[in-house]
Amino acid sequence: MSINLESLVYSVRMASARRASTDESQLRTLPAAGRFHVAFKKQTMHMKYIFFIFISSLIISCQDVEKDASDANLKVDSLLSEMTLREKIGQMNQYSVGSEMTGPNASVDHAERYQRFLNGEVGSVLNTLGARDTRKLQKMVVDSTRLGIPLIFAYDVIHGYQTMFPIPLGEAASWDLEAIQLSASIAAKEASSAGIQWTFAPMVDISRDARWGRVMEGAGEDPYLGSLIAKARIKGFQGNDLSDKHTIAACAKHFAGYGFAESGKDYNSVTVGKNTLHNVILPPFRASVESNVATFMNAFNDIDGIPSTSNLYLLRELLADKWNFDGVVVSDWNSIGEIINHGVASDRREAAMKAAIAGCDVDMEGDAFVNHLEQLILEGQVSEDLVDESVRQILSLKYELGLFDNPYKYFDEEIERELIGHPAHKKISREVATKSIVLLKNEQNLLPLANVKKLGVIGPLAKDKDSPLGNWRAAAKSNTAISLYEGIQTRLGNQMQISYAEGCKLSIGPNNFFNEVQIEQNDKSGFEEAIRVARTSDVVIMALGETAYMSGEARSRADIGLPGLQLDLLKEIYKVNKNIVLVLMNGRPLSIPWEADNIPTIVEAWHLGSEAGNAIADVLSGDVNPSGKLPMSFPRHVGQLPLYYNHLNTGRPNNEGAVFYSHHMDVENTPLYPFGYGLSYSEFEYSDLVIKQSSEEINVLITVTNTSDVYGQEVVQVYIRDIAASISRPVLELKGFEKIGLEPGQAKQIRFQFTKEDLSYFDTNGNTVFESGEFLISVGSNSQDLISESITL
Ligand code: BGC
Repeated sequence: MSINLESLVYSVRMASARRASTDESQLRTLPAAGRFHVAFKKQTMHMKYIFFIFISSLIISCQDVEKDASDANLKVDSLLSEMTLREKIGQMNQYSVGSEMTGPNASVDHAERYQRFLNGEVGSVLNTLGARDTRKLQKMVVDSTRLGIPLIFAYDVIHGYQTMFPIPLGEAASWDLEAIQLSASIAAKEASSAGIQWTFAPMVDISRDARWGRVMEGAGEDPYLGSLIAKARIKGFQGNDLSDKHTIAACAKHFAGYGFAESGKDYNSVTVGKNTLHNVILPPFRASVESNVATFMNAFNDIDGIPSTSNLYLLRELLADKWNFDGVVVSDWNSIGEIINHGVASDRREAAMKAAIAGCDVDMEGDAFVNHLEQLILEGQVSEDLVDESVRQILSLKYELGLFDNPYKYFDEEIERELIGHPAHKKISREVATKSIVLLKNEQNLLPLANVKKLGVIGPLAKDKDSPLGNWRAAAKSNTAISLYEGIQTRLGNQMQISYAEGCKLSIGPNNFFNEVQIEQNDKSGFEEAIRVARTSDVVIMALGETAYMSGEARSRADIGLPGLQLDLLKEIYKVNKNIVLVLMNGRPLSIPWEADNIPTIVEAWHLGSEAGNAIADVLSGDVNPSGKLPMSFPRHVGQLPLYYNHLNTGRPNNEGAVFYSHHMDVENTPLYPFGYGLSYSEFEYSDLVIKQSSEEINVLITVTNTSDVYGQEVVQVYIRDIAASISRPVLELKGFEKIGLEPGQAKQIRFQFTKEDLSYFDTNGNTVFESGEFLISVGSNSQDLISESITL
């Protein structure tokens, strides 16, 4: 998406002009509120100077003991005690200044907004980018407001800033926590050098429904894997020290249940029981708190009728009281205003009241707090203590980020030029991308490509330099990814003759962040040329899937097959050449039963980021042996959704009763490709499962052998099943994994160690419960191919 700072520049320019001409005569023509502010401002000019001194002395006195939390608290409390109620509420107000709107603006009056910046009625900003523009806005606020409290600049840095990494779902397929942490740390480095201190990531929503467009932004369907990935991403963004100018504050979102939207339709209602809530949805959020995530974001959805943004149970009872989270909670885009649409507040004032009482600290683009909180407090509807609590968290975050120390520390254009898009970042992006590729099928060993003289490259995504950047592409410039065609041409162009045909288009008209993508359904005029290329090729690479804007926010799909004419095209090509390598580029699991039955080789390449084409070429050529594993089940049919490996057994799990069991009569009861699945050019054998128990721990030993003649990496996975408990437990639950590398012929014994706590679950109050009894321990290369043994604990 292109970043347009026009509105910022416009509002800053307009406002400067206004400011310069404000004198006594004009003061009289201002509305009462405006007069109050200007008069108040004049009166307090000297105070501002005093507070400047105060802030400076705060900085100086803090230099030695910067990390001393109690000292920080004292400073924050002292600043808080000097703030007027409006200034405090201002800290809770966040505006988008820039062009990226993911929802309607509550107010778009530039002049009014500008005035609010000057009054100290805005505490943070999203969507302003670049060291120059962020500095400009920061300076305006620091210079013009009474207390000079700096802004925090936030942005959706989801899978890279300008150097794009694989979409988070794709990156999750690497099962490589170090790689994931590294990618987040590079995103933080680039973003922080462009003036950003806070990312709205990671999205830690578990989802079991591939129709939901935002599955691309998460880590898939499993709470255990999702928790570890949440931790890795938070560590990557935040590092060890938030005041380091190369780290940024992370945000665990969307709290909670957003991934369980009914029918996979974005923003839809959520109905989940407490078992699912505590054991599936919440673990990654808990893990985020354990990783000291700086902030949380509310979800748009309601759970069983209660909007997340005003959910006392989630925000107060759990997050604050039980988990002791003491960071900042930000609403989602106008999600406070949306409480009215949910039918749980009659107006914005009531919505503001409910959100504040529940524990929402920052109102993103809602204009609810800034317009109503003051009155609510004066009338005794909301306690000022609540506001103090929120502002304390916000100021503490600013303090931790080092903004009181130096409000301009993140705005260095030279560092920005040096760091953004650095070649080292691209290199790492390529490595992470190769790790994220999942080989779904390689029946005739078409891969790695060998002895091919004529290679055909066909499909609407083959030369697409934009889609691989993914949906949440932050500051990446459109059309800057290495396309699949370019990658293949660079790597294999001197070894084989490469011909290309587009075959068909994927979409008609605008294909961007702000528009509904129109899928091309009719124009088959490119088929003929594609068939000609296929006929004359030894092997055909088919580059099919989704554009970047067919997944992501508000991009739910009811049909998750290959969109548009692509399957028709594939079938036509198959008629003339069966040596097909289908390379899928998509933001969600697709339903591809015909493809899986007929096409010999299928590679899942997601949207892999800036280096996509090179990474795909690395794998197709055999330079890199694929090692990714699916973080989400691929269904046989969309009607199976929600589909997930860790389901409950039900009372009728199998077909002993002929027809009367839990199934669909027209589709097999299994996924097409299960969770944890992914092939390699190597072959791995699992043997000698040994389980050793002591009163303290359980040791699971397994031998894995590379029986092929090529080095490869394998993700060894351990699952458990708690056979009989107080509540029904899943048929399988991932509890451990290790990614190992094995030379040809090499065997390794891998040991996993568990305590009883690892085998416990959460009861309906979110308390950990361990119940002794029989457990089935299973080890293998995915959630279906397992060796199992049962133990009694
Ligand atoms: C999304 C959030 C995002 C916010 C700001 C919303 O529409 O749901 O995930 O952080 O916009 O861009």
